[in-house]
Amino acid sequence: MNATVWKEKLSAVRDSFSVSIAQKPAVNPEELELRFLGRKGELALLLRDLKDIPLEERKPLGALGNAAKTEMEARLAGLKGAAGLSGPVVKADLDLTLPGVPFPKGSLHPLTHTMNRLTEAFLKLGFTMADGPLVEDDYHNFEALNFPPYHPARDMQDTFYVDLKDAAGKELLLRTHTSNTQIRAMENQDPPIRVFHPGRVFRNEAVDASHSFTFHQIEGLYIDAGVSMADLKWTVDTFMKDLFGTAVKTRFNPSYFPFVEPGAEVDMSCVFCKAGGDRCPVCKGTGWLEMMGAGMVHPNVLKACKYDPAKWSGFAFGAGIERFAMLLYGISDMRMLYENDLRVLKQVH
Ligand code: PHE
Repeated sequence: MNATVWKEKLSAVRDSFSVSIAQKPAVNPEELELRFLGRKGELALLLRDLKDIPLEERKPLGALGNAAKTEMEARLAGLKGAAGLSGPVVKADLDLTLPGVPFPKGSLHPLTHTMNRLTEAFLKLGFTMADGPLVEDDYHNFEALNFPPYHPARDMQDTFYVDLKDAAGKELLLRTHTSNTQIRAMENQDPPIRVFHPGRVFRNEAVDASHSFTFHQIEGLYIDAGVSMADLKWTVDTFMKDLFGTAVKTRFNPSYFPFVEPGAEVDMSCVFCKAGGDRCPVCKGTGWLEMMGAGMVHPNVLKACKYDPAKWSGFAFGAGIERFAMLLYGISDMRMLYENDLRVLKQVH
């Protein structure tokens, strides 16, 4: 072989390399490497042929061959790099400094968040979580709670009756309050008892800024020997301070619920205007916010659950969770909690 033939062969190898590397779809770079640069590759064989060429001509040819090798290596490295990132098509168009694609994480609903905070506060006070059904019978929602049939107190809670009966043939309704869990808890265990229950309730009410046909309550019940109104006041006060800060005050106003005696409504000092500013829209200038119903468990309720009222006494309270959520997160209209507007939901994490 002479130098001219060798040079022609080299240029043929280079051409065939260029054609192969530009193929679409792209060829596997490892295959190309083996074919041209491998130990028995086209270029390697050609370089081996150099030994047949006279020494004085060999030198410049060797340099040409090495230059071709370096160039092929560089182009193969480029092909491998592009394939490793995102396929050969993207190549140099990839800008690693661009901001990433946003990945919205989602968060808990403000009501779930509030329920969790209330739950934590109760757990700290040594209460355990109880449960009860949403579709309830008249006995657990009303009668055992000292609402006799046709008693006018039933009108305080406009009720959705369900067109169904349970296995025992009893009429069913959507529970109007979480107080049914008081009865269920007492039926399931002997005193002493210290339970709470957050959950959904239903009332036949028109929806407005502070009412809805479904909302959430949290119920508390504590029965033991010698439990008094002082225990109720301490528990409620401690619970409120845990949620709204130690500066809040609580006060009790006499009120009526058939299942407690005495019964009370618990107010909390307004967390927005603090000192009862006369134009505060939240407390309407009174300085107080009505937060829950409470009282000492009525002896008739204890009797219905086969607890001896001479031996045991206790307190119960029930609060609307929406009210807490609105105050904790500064939400002015209850409907915002049900509309799933992301602008509202994204504010609570
Ligand atoms: N169940 C009552 C209501 O829904 C609240 C309450 C609970 C009152 C426990 C006293 C004791 O209005």
